Amino acid sequence: MARVETSYGRPYHLVIFGASGFTGQFVVEEVARTVSEGPKGNLKWAVAGRSRQKLEKVLEQAAGVLSKPELRTEVDIIVADIEEPDSLAVMCKQAVIVLNCVGPYRFFGEPVVKACVENGAHHIDISGEPQFLEGMQLNYSSQAADKGVYIIGSCGFDSIPADMGVLYTRDQFKGTLTAVESFLTLSSGPDGGCIHDGTWMSAIYGLADSQKLQSLRRKFNHKPLPTVGSKLRRRGALFYSNEIQQYTVPFMGSDPSVVRRTQRFLAEEHQATPVQYGAYAGIGGVGNIIKLIFAGMIFWFLVKFSFGRNLLIKHPELFSFGVFTKAGPTRKQMEGSSFQFAFYGEGYVEDQDPTQGKPNAKIRTRVQGPECGYVATPIAMVQAALTVLTEPTALPKKGGVYTPGAAFAKTTLIDRLNKHGIQFSVI
Ligand SMILES: NC(=O)c1ccc[n+]([C@@H]2O[C@H](COP(=O)([O-])OP(=O)(O)OC[C@H]3O[C@@H](n4cnc5c(N)ncnc54)[C@H](OP(=O)(O)O)[C@@H]3O)[C@@H](O)[C@H]2O)c1
Repeated sequence: MARVETSYGRPYHLVIFGASGFTGQFVVEEVARTVSEGPKGNLKWAVAGRSRQKLEKVLEQAAGVLSKPELRTEVDIIVADIEEPDSLAVMCKQAVIVLNCVGPYRFFGEPVVKACVENGAHHIDISGEPQFLEGMQLNYSSQAADKGVYIIGSCGFDSIPADMGVLYTRDQFKGTLTAVESFLTLSSGPDGGCIHDGTWMSAIYGLADSQKLQSLRRKFNHKPLPTVGSKLRRRGALFYSNEIQQYTVPFMGSDPSVVRRTQRFLAEEHQATPVQYGAYAGIGGVGNIIKLIFAGMIFWFLVKFSFGRNLLIKHPELFSFGVFTKAGPTRKQMEGSSFQFAFYGEGYVEDQDPTQGKPNAKIRTRVQGPECGYVATPIAMVQAALTVLTEPTALPKKGGVYTPGAAFAKTTLIDRLNKHGIQFSVI
C-alpha cells in the first residue's frame, strides 16, 4: 500500500515544486483551497523552487487572491534546484507527494523523478510530453515498484480528461466497449484566451525530438494489443466533423499515447478488453484552417534547426498567431474560457461475444470543465494527489510509473473531479 502518512522526518503531504512558475502559482491556490479535503481534514503542505524570493511572492499573491493572510506565514518554503541533486533529495525526503510543476519535463523532469524514487516520495506531474512520460516508465518502473513509490504522469488537462473520459465511457457502457473517438473543443469569452509559453517550449522540443520517441517505444518490446471489434478507422489530417460541427484535426498532444498506455496496463494486468482510441480537436472555420496551415508549415520548418527553435522560443505570440504568449492568460480570460470533450464510443451489447460480428451499440459521453491550462490542470493535479493520499488501497497494488487511468481506475477520482467543476456525463 502507498505511503500516505506524514511523520516527524516527512512533515508534508504535498510539496509543490516549481510553485513560482506560471502554472505552479495556480496549483498553490488550488492546494490552499482544498486543505480541508486532506487526510483527517488537514492537508500539510509546502512550496518549493529555486528562488525563495519568488516563492514568497507567490504565497503573498495567493494570500491576497484567496483572502487567506495565514498563507504568508504558515506555509513553509523549501529551496531546491534541478542543478543541485542534494537539494532535490532534501525536498523529496520531506514530502509524501511531490507535485512537480517544473517543465519542460524533457529537460528538468528526470532528476526529480529519480530523487523521488530514491527518497520515497510519490511524484505527480502535469507533463504532456510522451517522450518524458514513456521514458520514465521505461527507466524507473521497477525501481519505483521496489520502493513502493507511485510516479503518476500527465495529471493535468493533458491527459486526465481524455484518459479518465475513456474509462468513464467504458464503465457507463452496458456491454463491451471496443472503440472511442474524442473531439475536443476549446471556448473563450469576449476577452479571448491564450496559453503560457512554458507549454509552447515543451511542444517545440517535443516535435524536434519526435524520432527519439519512436526508438524509445521500440525498447519496451510490447506485443501489439489485440484489436477487438471493428478496427477504428483513422480520420484524415483535416476534416469537417459532424460530431462537433466544425473543422477538425488529429489531436497533437499526449492523450493518444497516455490512453494507449492505460489500455495496455488494464488489458495486461486486469484482462480488460482494450479500447481503441482516436483523438481529434476542433479548430473552427475556414479562417482558422488557413492560419493553422500557415503557422504549421513555418513551425515544422523552424523546429528542425536550432536557430529556428530559438526564433520560435523568442516570439511565441508571432509564430502561434497569439495562441501562446510570454505573459500567459489573464485571470479574466481564464474565467471566460472552457473545454469540452465529446466521446463517441461503440461496442457490443451485454451477452454478445465481441469477437463475432460488428459492434451493435453506441454511447456518447462528455467531459467538460473550466479553462484547461491553469484552472482545470491544477484541479486535476490536486485531486489526483488527494486521491493518492486518501484512497491508497484503491491504487495498483505495487508502486511503479503509471498513467492516470492505470493509477486511478478503481478510485473515486471522477466523482472528485465532478465536485470540482470537471464534469463527466452521459449524453
Ligand atoms: N498538462 C497540462 O495541461 C499543462 C498545463 C499547464 C502547464 N503544463 C506544463 O507545465 C510545465 C510548466 O509550465 P509553465 O507555463 O508553468 O512554465 P514556467 O512558468 O516557465 O515555469 C517553470 C518552472 O520551472 C522552474 N524551474 C526552471 N528551472 C529550474 C531549476 N533549475 N530548478 C528548479 N526550478 C526550475 C521555474 O522556476 P523560476 O520561477 O525560479 O524560474 C518555474 O517555477 C510545462 O512543461 C507545461 O507544458 C501542462
